[in-house]
Amino acid sequence: MLLGNSSTQRERQMKSSTLTLTGVERKMDPSEIIVTKTDLDGKICYGNRTFFKYANYSPQECIGKQHNIIRHPEMPRTVFKLLWDTIQAGQEIFAYVNNRSKNGDHYWVLAHVTPSRDSNGTVIGYHSNRRAPNAEVVQTYIQPLYDELLAVEARASSPKAALEDGQAMVAGLLDEKRMGFNEMIFSLGT
Ligand SMILES: Cc1cc2nc3c(=O)[nH]c(=O)nc-3n(C[C@H](O)[C@H](O)[C@H](O)COP(=O)(O)O)c2cc1C
Repeated sequence: MLLGNSSTQRERQMKSSTLTLTGVERKMDPSEIIVTKTDLDGKICYGNRTFFKYANYSPQECIGKQHNIIRHPEMPRTVFKLLWDTIQAGQEIFAYVNNRSKNGDHYWVLAHVTPSRDSNGTVIGYHSNRRAPNAEVVQTYIQPLYDELLAVEARASSPKAALEDGQAMVAGLLDEKRMGFNEMIFSLGT
């Protein structure tokens, strides 16, 4: 298990079949909060100015689109599976996410994603607030964990198996630490 080991900072300049990555990291200011709201399917219905600034898209390009418009190709699918399973179960989740700006830059965030409810308690969409992550936590714990998850996913024989293997890895890590996922995230330091 790599979690807990330090990793060296890597230059991340690569081209995938559809997405260009510049390797340039945009660092959030600690005073900033990135906000988006989605419908039940994950289509963006609101973004604050800070969201559009980091995503580098106009509101016209994002509103009504799936939130994966800013998905970074080096984010493990397991993390998004966990995110969706958690919010669809009516719970909140804290997760480190690396996002891709329109021009291929990237920016790390610590996201808090919650269901939004109407006055009857019915879930009507989802809401995410993100702030600047602790860069040392990202470098020391999160990037190595995500690299390991990506490797586990890549070794799997199918997309379904990739998610199962990734989830098993996260479950093993949480068992080892006797923690829930959010608890584990905060145990790393904020
Ligand atoms: C409220 C909310 C906020 C989200 N924020 C992000 C985000 O900042 N970056 C991201 O890549 N995915 C985000 N997602 C997850 C996406 O919906 C999607 O699952 C993810 O980008 C993976 O894309 P894929 O499902 O097409 O593989 C968010 C979902 C919700 C409901």
